[in-house]
Amino acid sequence: SHSYVIAVLPGDGIGIEVMPPALRCLEAAAKVFGFHLEWRHYPWASCTYYHQHGKMLPDNWKPLLQACDAIYFGAVGDPATVPDHISLWGSLLLFRREFDQYINLRPCRLISGVTSPLANRDGKHIDFVTVRENTEGEYSSIGGRIFEGTDRETVIQNTVFTRIGVDRVIRYAFELARSRPAKKLTSATKSNGISITMPYWDERVEVIGKEYPDVKVEKYHIDILCAHFVQRPHIFDVVVGSNLFGDILSDLGPACTGTIGIAPSANLNPSATRGESGDTWMPSLFEPVHGSAPDIAGKGIANPVGMIWAGQMMLEHLGEKDAANAVMGAIERVLKVSRSAQLRGESDILTPDMHGKGTTEGLGRAIEEEIL
Ligand code: NAD
Ligand code: IPM
Ligand code: MN
Repeated sequence: SHSYVIAVLPGDGIGIEVMPPALRCLEAAAKVFGFHLEWRHYPWASCTYYHQHGKMLPDNWKPLLQACDAIYFGAVGDPATVPDHISLWGSLLLFRREFDQYINLRPCRLISGVTSPLANRDGKHIDFVTVRENTEGEYSSIGGRIFEGTDRETVIQNTVFTRIGVDRVIRYAFELARSRPAKKLTSATKSNGISITMPYWDERVEVIGKEYPDVKVEKYHIDILCAHFVQRPHIFDVVVGSNLFGDILSDLGPACTGTIGIAPSANLNPSATRGESGDTWMPSLFEPVHGSAPDIAGKGIANPVGMIWAGQMMLEHLGEKDAANAVMGAIERVLKVSRSAQLRGESDILTPDMHGKGTTEGLGRAIEEEIL
């Protein structure tokens, strides 16, 4: 039977709370479907580690992660004690960059049992995937401050679009759209205002689109696209966007499905192959969309579904499709049944972000038991 080595990086805040139930769910799936998951637990990539060592990572972080088939990541950030750009550029953003995880897949679905804040929406109305460019764009390291401390103080940060970087994410999105029934791709742009980089993005969508005559393409400026996410979410199938636009849309989309607490994220390097030597392998990283949520950390009420669903995407990526389907099915059944129980005034295991009184532990256990 197959065996997979997984780096486990819980990080900070609720990352530490949602990781254990998620590991138990994946172990349950491994047991049922007859494969083995070997967890390599690491305390680094966290602000706790930063306080102890003065840095986010040990010097040998790269070979340690490259020895793994995939990375399972909680959430990082403790803005009260470490500036976010230090903790994030010292961990998650560095991994995305160093392992060239150029695709960030963020599915968004309205799941029965989770109440949408939008009126009159049910499951068939929200079901799309955001494909976010994940290594360049607005998240560049090019820029700086000049005339600091004077009245001419100036800060500049350049957006970087490379042909390779733009084309590979757009092509990936077209392939994904082609594989889905609706065969529709929506491109997020802002070429009316951002007059150099965004027209280039539009141009590449148009050029690459010629290779995909079977895929219907639409483009919207990011402002009205946000409005459509709220008012017409049913029109979306695959949505492709730059690093920043993809980031924003992938919180907005899940918020329209009730809570960002259920949303998963796969940071993929689809070109990576595992060769003779470990040093060229670039593992992909699976994480919830949400952050460390300092406002609810330590209370035991974080929604574990985003973490579990991210694990489901990891199983799919590893080739364990049946196990992945079983985990998704368990999430869906538990959420639906739990809402019914809540409405009947029976047990309430939905977490507060889903308008329940449940706990991380309780909801996690229910999903684990449903898988077994
Ligand atoms: P956040 O996602 O941590 O929290 C935003 C809001 O959503 C909070 O009210 C929080 O309680 C709620 N929330 C988030 N996840 C939830 C869950 N699973 N269950 C219930 N409620 C949930 O975003 P933020 O407040 O902007 O950021 C907090 C810290 O996390 C910052 O340091 C930020 O940089 C970091 N962050 C990290 C990641 C990551 O590691 N991938 C992602 C986003 C933010
Ligand atoms: C995400 C997060 C990160 C991002 C932050 C924490 C740097 O918001 O994964 O969506 O902007 O990519
Ligand atoms: Mn984000």
